Amino acid sequence: MKILVLNGPNLNLLGTREPQIYGTTTLADIERDLEAAAAELGVTVECVQTNHEGVLIDRIQAAHGDANGIIINAGAYSHTSLAIRDALAAVAMPYAEVHLSNIFAREPERRHSTLAAGARAVLCGFGAPGYVLALRGLVAALRA
Ligand code: DQA
Repeated sequence: MKILVLNGPNLNLLGTREPQIYGTTTLADIERDLEAAAAELGVTVECVQTNHEGVLIDRIQAAHGDANGIIINAGAYSHTSLAIRDALAAVAMPYAEVHLSNIFAREPERRHSTLAAGARAVLCGFGAPGYVLALRGLVAALRA
């Protein structure tokens, strides 16, 4: 089983970016923890970060026939992108939406996600550990 982990714009800056909101854990730390959890679970993860909406869409499309599920933190595109939602719908595989912060407790424009309605699960507010929780949940759902 393979899970594609996608991180969108500005998430490459984790560790130094608004640490009072996003914490001090780096994306490299998160990806290392995901690799360790994946090994424990007996699955493979591929982690991709990009600041570009089109690249996210290309990677989602390429997951068809390659991955079994997707974990995605699309950053600010989560609130705006119908194109990413359409790509996720097109590949028709279970995905978990992750946010480090609790987007529902933030500014009004962050309280809506274009991706949430199609998600198998949405996990937000646990910071960096949320990614591993999402991986465990998605793998369990795929194995059920
Ligand atoms: C985020 C929340 C978004 O509103 C923001 O634009 C991000 C990060 C989060 O992980 O909490 O880039 O997705």
